[in-house]
Amino acid sequence: MTAPTTDSNKDRVFIFDTTLRDGEQSPGATMTLEEKLQVAEALDDMGVDIIEAGFPIASNGDFEAVVAVAKQVKRATVAGLARAITADIDRAGEAVRHAQKGRIHTFVSTSPIHLAHQMKKTEDEVIEIIARTVAQARNLIDDVEWSAMDATRTPLEFLKRCVETAIKAGATTINLPDTVGYAVPDEHEKMFRDIITQVPGADKAIFSAHCHNDLGLAVANSLAAVRGGARQVECTINGLGERAGNAALEEIVMALRTRADVMPYHTEIETTHLARASRIVSAAANFPVQYNKAIVGKNAFAHESGIHQDGMLKNAETYEIMTPASVGIKETTLVMGKHSGRAAFKDKLRELGYELGDNAFQEAFQRFKDLADRKKHVYDADIVALVDDEVGSVGDRIKLVDMQVISKTGGVHKCDLTLSIDGEETSVSFEGTGSVDAIFNAIKLAVGKQPHLVLYAIDGVTGGTDAQASAHVRLELNGRLVSGNAAEPDTLVASARAYLNAYNRLLIERGASAQGAMAG
Ligand code: KIV
Ligand code: ZN
Repeated sequence: MTAPTTDSNKDRVFIFDTTLRDGEQSPGATMTLEEKLQVAEALDDMGVDIIEAGFPIASNGDFEAVVAVAKQVKRATVAGLARAITADIDRAGEAVRHAQKGRIHTFVSTSPIHLAHQMKKTEDEVIEIIARTVAQARNLIDDVEWSAMDATRTPLEFLKRCVETAIKAGATTINLPDTVGYAVPDEHEKMFRDIITQVPGADKAIFSAHCHNDLGLAVANSLAAVRGGARQVECTINGLGERAGNAALEEIVMALRTRADVMPYHTEIETTHLARASRIVSAAANFPVQYNKAIVGKNAFAHESGIHQDGMLKNAETYEIMTPASVGIKETTLVMGKHSGRAAFKDKLRELGYELGDNAFQEAFQRFKDLADRKKHVYDADIVALVDDEVGSVGDRIKLVDMQVISKTGGVHKCDLTLSIDGEETSVSFEGTGSVDAIFNAIKLAVGKQPHLVLYAIDGVTGGTDAQASAHVRLELNGRLVSGNAAEPDTLVASARAYLNAYNRLLIERGASAQGAMAG
C-alpha cells in the first residue's frame, strides 16, 4: 500500500502511470501482451510508483495482461481498474493479487449529467454504491483507490459526501478525475484544497489528480491539483489517451523538476529514462510523437534560428531550460557500418536501452547488416527504428515475401505481391491509381478483409535521400481502429509493411466485452 503523506514525505508526488489502461484506450493504440510487458518494464525501471496495468473485467486478454504485469513488476504497485460492480472488483482483485504490491482502483460517476443519463441513479443510491463497493475491495486488498468519475462537474457538497463515504469504507487513495478535460487550473486547485480541508477523515487518504487534455490543460491542471494538496498524479507517457489524451508524465515530471523554485515538490522518477520510455510507448502503441511535443518530441531540443544557435554555442542555458541529457536524449551519433560485428551491435543496443532475446537479436542484427549494406551512414535513430520495427512485428501472421511495383507517369501503377499468410504463400496483382493505392489494394485482395484506411503518413528517420522511411498506417474495420508502423530504406516497402503491421493487429482477438467496458 502506498504510504499516506507524512511530514517527511509531504512534498513527494507519487506518479501513477495509466499508459497501459487509459492510454491503451486511445483509438488505434491497442498493444499486444509482449508490448505491454515491455512498457511495464520501462515504467518500473524509471521509478513510476503505481502502474495501472489494465481493466481486468474488459476481456480475458486484459485480465491476462494485468496478471502478467503484476508478476513481472518488481518495484511499483500494480493497479487494476474496476467499475463499481461486484464482478469487476472480484476480477481486479484476482488479477492484482499476483503483484508484490497490488491495488484495486474502483470508480463510479458522480456528476449530475452522468447520474441522470448514464447511471440513472439518485445521489443517495450512489453513496450506497460507494460504501458497498469500496468495502468489498478493501476486503480483498489493503490498497484501494476510489475515483469520482467526472468529479470536476460534480457539485462540491455532493463530492464531499462521496469522498467522505469512500474514505470511511476504507479507500486509501481518492482520485478526482477531470474526465472530460473541462477544468481550468485555478478552480482545479481550489476543488482539491476545499475537499482536502473540509472532508472529515481526508488526512487518512492520498488525493490524486487525473486530467484529460481536451482543452490542452491536463498538465497545468495536474500541477494545480498538486498545489491544492494532491500528492498523486495520474498520467501517461507521451500523453497517450482517449480523445486529446491524458496529462503527459514526462511534462509533469520535468515541470516539477525544472521549476522546483515555484513548485517545491518532487517525484522519484529517473528522468534520464524519459526519452526511452517515450520511444517504447510510441512503438508499442504505434502512435507517433508529434515533432514539437514538449520534452520528448523530435524538435524539443532543436535550435533552428541563427540567433538561438549563436546563443547555444556561447552558453546552452541561453535557450535551454533543461538539458537533453537530463531526459535521456543523446546526441545523434554516427554509429556503425557494415563492418561492425555482433558484439558492437549488442553494445549499441544496450546503450540505446534494448535487451533483446536471442532470436530477436539475430533478426535485428541481420536487418542491421542489410541496412548497412545499402546505407552509408547508420545512425542511432536508424537502429532504434529498426529494432522497434522488429519488436513491433513479432508474431505477425501475415508477412511480406516479395513485392514488385511498376509506376509510370500518366500510366499504369501495378503491384505484384507475394504474402505469407499463416505460413502459406499467396501471390496477387493489382493496378491502382498510384503505387501506394496498388500496394494496399493488392494486400486487401490477398488477405480478403476490407479495412478502411484512416491515416497514412511517411517520415524520414534521419535526413538525406538515403534515410530510412518510417511509414505509419491506421486502419478501421467494424468500428475497431488499429495502427501499424514500419521502417525501411525503400518508401514503398515501408508502406506495405506498415499496412501489414496494422492488418496483423486486426487479427489479434480482443474480448467482445472490451468495447462495452471502456472507462474514461
Ligand atoms: O477519466 C476518468 O474518469 C477515468 C476513471 C476511470 C479514473 O479514467
Ligand atoms: Zn481517464
